[in-house]
Amino acid sequence: MDNRPIGVFDSGLGGLNGLCALRRFLPDENIVYFADSGRLPYGAKSRPQLREMAKQDLRFLSSFNVKAILIACGTLSSNAGDILAGWPIPTVGVLTSSADWMRRLEGSGPIAVIATEASIRSGSYQAALKEACPKREVVAIPCPDFVPLIESGHCSSKDPLVCDAVARYLQPARDAGAEALLLGCTHYDIIKDAISRFLGPDITLVSAAESGAAALCSRLLKEGRTGGSGETRFFTSGDSRSFSEAAALFLGRTAEEVPAGSVPPEPLPVPISLDHRSDAPC
Ligand code: DGL
Repeated sequence: MDNRPIGVFDSGLGGLNGLCALRRFLPDENIVYFADSGRLPYGAKSRPQLREMAKQDLRFLSSFNVKAILIACGTLSSNAGDILAGWPIPTVGVLTSSADWMRRLEGSGPIAVIATEASIRSGSYQAALKEACPKREVVAIPCPDFVPLIESGHCSSKDPLVCDAVARYLQPARDAGAEALLLGCTHYDIIKDAISRFLGPDITLVSAAESGAAALCSRLLKEGRTGGSGETRFFTSGDSRSFSEAAALFLGRTAEEVPAGSVPPEPLPVPISLDHRSDAPC
């Protein structure tokens, strides 16, 4: 039994997919969520910048005496894996967990991964998938427009801008006859219906966000370190009002208190509280 909170972070909304999955698997955990919205998109940053930001984000969450941290961000997981692995508090990144998930899929045909520019440029997803699925062809596709679109409110899978971008980016996965597609950026779950519609019903979509949450939960269960009262605290380094509104929409909750936000380059997170609604999905 360990009642300390779990830390979860991402550049913005994407990590909320990890948070929702954590809530589904272990509803009683206390969670501290940090959205580094003041500095998104992470996918457009250089590797040295991302590595520095990973340390700052980890330091921020570590100050809450968390028992473990979920790095619900493919971009940091693929550019700062060694920093996460060497952190004194246990961390789970979505790169390793999603490659493990892909390893367990049936089939021997091509697989594809879509992620941010910085994730694909790092080569980490390609290497992890090659190792996990050595016999399969791996198609890696950067999708730089997805995160800016989603963060600017184009979150619906029916949105014409989303559908256009999906068709533009996903054609190589379709041409390769990919049997499975890894959503290697946690934001992409938000538009997964558009992706699935474009690729057809036969392709298996794997969520990096969910794989990370599942890996963290099984680790805590195995170590007997679950426990809490189901509380969630939210922080952002960006505009707290817009994060709060977007998150409220996303989580099915209403914003209750919206203090002023802060700006990049330094994350100076401010608290946000969102109250629970009984019909909230997580
Ligand atoms: N959601 C993040 C990821 O999984 C980062 C998106 C971004 O800020 O570019 O990579």
